[in-house]
Amino acid sequence: MRVFVTGASGWIGSATVDELLDTGHGVVGLARSDASAAALERRGATVLRGDLDDPDSLHRGASEADAVVHLANKHDWGNPAESDRAERAAVATMAEALVGTGRPFVVANALSGLVEGRSVLETDPSPAVGPGSDRGGSENLALDYVDRGVRTVITRFAPSVHGAGDWGFVTFLVAAARRRGVSGYLGDGSATWSAVHRSDAARLIRLGLENASGGTRLHVVAEEFVTTRAIAEAIGRALDLPVVSVAPADAGEHFGIVGSFFGMTMTASSELTRKAVDWEPTGPSLIEDIDSGAYTR
Ligand SMILES: NC(=O)c1ccc[n+]([C@@H]2O[C@H](COP(=O)([O-])OP(=O)(O)OC[C@H]3O[C@@H](n4cnc5c(N)ncnc54)[C@H](OP(=O)(O)O)[C@@H]3O)[C@@H](O)[C@H]2O)c1
Repeated sequence: MRVFVTGASGWIGSATVDELLDTGHGVVGLARSDASAAALERRGATVLRGDLDDPDSLHRGASEADAVVHLANKHDWGNPAESDRAERAAVATMAEALVGTGRPFVVANALSGLVEGRSVLETDPSPAVGPGSDRGGSENLALDYVDRGVRTVITRFAPSVHGAGDWGFVTFLVAAARRRGVSGYLGDGSATWSAVHRSDAARLIRLGLENASGGTRLHVVAEEFVTTRAIAEAIGRALDLPVVSVAPADAGEHFGIVGSFFGMTMTASSELTRKAVDWEPTGPSLIEDIDSGAYTR
């Protein structure tokens, strides 16, 4: 298939581009800068210059492709409302371009805020509906298009999609540990995160694109439960720093932006996902990655 990938230069997107090219697909990657365009060309992808704020580029990419994988996100942590607005607008533009085609539309989401107090299941709908909701309600918006002839597949990513070269939440925790001279966890450290290695995430995106039926929610989760204390302990071992409990009231000051996530339990089952598309994660665990120096070299 000729696959249009937004966020193709990103952490998950670049692995997805490699996975798609390695399995015989063609890739057209959205790039908003010369650097991203050059990186995509080096991987063997075709470049479509554009931006989340340029709907014509999104419409063109989606309408000229056999499938769309949407991974771009502004990740403007200082202005999440703008990230959410752009996310909703981008999903609407690409979904409109796909109406009536039956083509796959793989849309990224995260696990935060989906359910309270237990692991999220694939059967749990997202409570985010409409503009102004988390990620602009883009999951439900994209799913609304299933009835209009779009094969929407949602990929809900674990809060840590890990591996050497990651620039996500775990790198923020490592930076905080270096800054503070201690590796912290919040409270008793019993909050848990799910995790997945980047290579397993990319393979699941490809399998979802090829095989999942419209309306499927896939959980990109290899390990359901990793305690935040175990993460802090691994960072402490890797940096040879003491491991300490941090009071929840001091989360922001101690950790910076990741402090607002580190005390949250963000876990999901992937039992139905594995059955739906015959996916079995094979990459290293998050703790193995941290222990191997992937975050501290
Ligand atoms: N990584 C994780 O652990 C994780 C966890 C949960 C959910 N997710 C979700 O999974 C998706 C992919 O995440 P990621 O970690 O791969 O993100 P990432 O590494 O931050 O990459 C973001 C991508 O979006 C592109 N982008 C940003 N602003 C753009 C704009 N205005 N116009 C066009 N492209 C723009 C970036 O392009 P440039 O290269 O030009 O900057 C980059 O390709 C996102 O939706 C993210 O929220 C990720």
